[in-house]
Amino acid sequence: MNLEIDILNHPLPKHIAIIMDGNGRWAKSRGRIRAFGHENGTKAVRTTVESCAKLGIEHLTLYAFSTENWKRPKLEVKTLMQLLISSLKKEMNTLQKNNIRLNAIGNIETLPKKVFDELSHVIEATKMNSRMTLNLALSYGSRDELTHVVKEIGEKIKNNIISPEKIDESIINQHLYTRNLPEVDLLIRTSGEQRLSNFLLWQIAYAELYFTKVFWPDFSNEDLYKAIASYQKRERRFGKTSEQLN
Ligand code: FPP
Repeated sequence: MNLEIDILNHPLPKHIAIIMDGNGRWAKSRGRIRAFGHENGTKAVRTTVESCAKLGIEHLTLYAFSTENWKRPKLEVKTLMQLLISSLKKEMNTLQKNNIRLNAIGNIETLPKKVFDELSHVIEATKMNSRMTLNLALSYGSRDELTHVVKEIGEKIKNNIISPEKIDESIINQHLYTRNLPEVDLLIRTSGEQRLSNFLLWQIAYAELYFTKVFWPDFSNEDLYKAIASYQKRERRFGKTSEQLN
């Protein structure tokens, strides 16, 4: 509770992104199957979303399914897709009640039709909500995203819509799935792994990184506050010197 009050007295990150890792190991350590870990992972999603909204975080982006996750055993992919559908159905009211808008980033056309339809339904139903945007990264991979960007810009060059000399960072930003989102301020990864796994590679150029050993299903409000408190202690220089900032 004290930590919550403390972080509210300092500037908060506008955009938090999370690599929710460790569901499988969490389940294994309890002698249970991986699906049990994912099910419990959805509970941590719920508490984290509510907590971020309550704190006043504007954007929360969760890495829910990567382009590489399609290579997992068929049954696990099916379980994850079913969990997505059931969570979307179950949490629609919570999103409305908390004035949270749902958005998706990734190659979402590749999702099974039922997931795509449910997702589109919740995105449409919550589009006027304004307290926080929850971005679900689904069938998302940074390399895939950047490949799409290059293809789209290439097409525009071919059709004389853009000239190559005009290409700058802002044009690239406008073609990313994240085109309407602010820069990521804080990236959190759970489970002790310290890698980025093809997540928002362009977007996290100046994000602060925070790694915790906690497995995702155990990630609590207190863990979120600790990550934010760590972020608030850092000096973000964006390439400048300390003196220039002061
Ligand atoms: C990583 O743990 C987690 C995932 C690949 C999926 C995350 C999905 C959820 C938390 C549930 C559904 C999400 C929503 C938004 C409702 P892992 O399986 O890689 O764990 P391991 O590294 O211990 O094997």
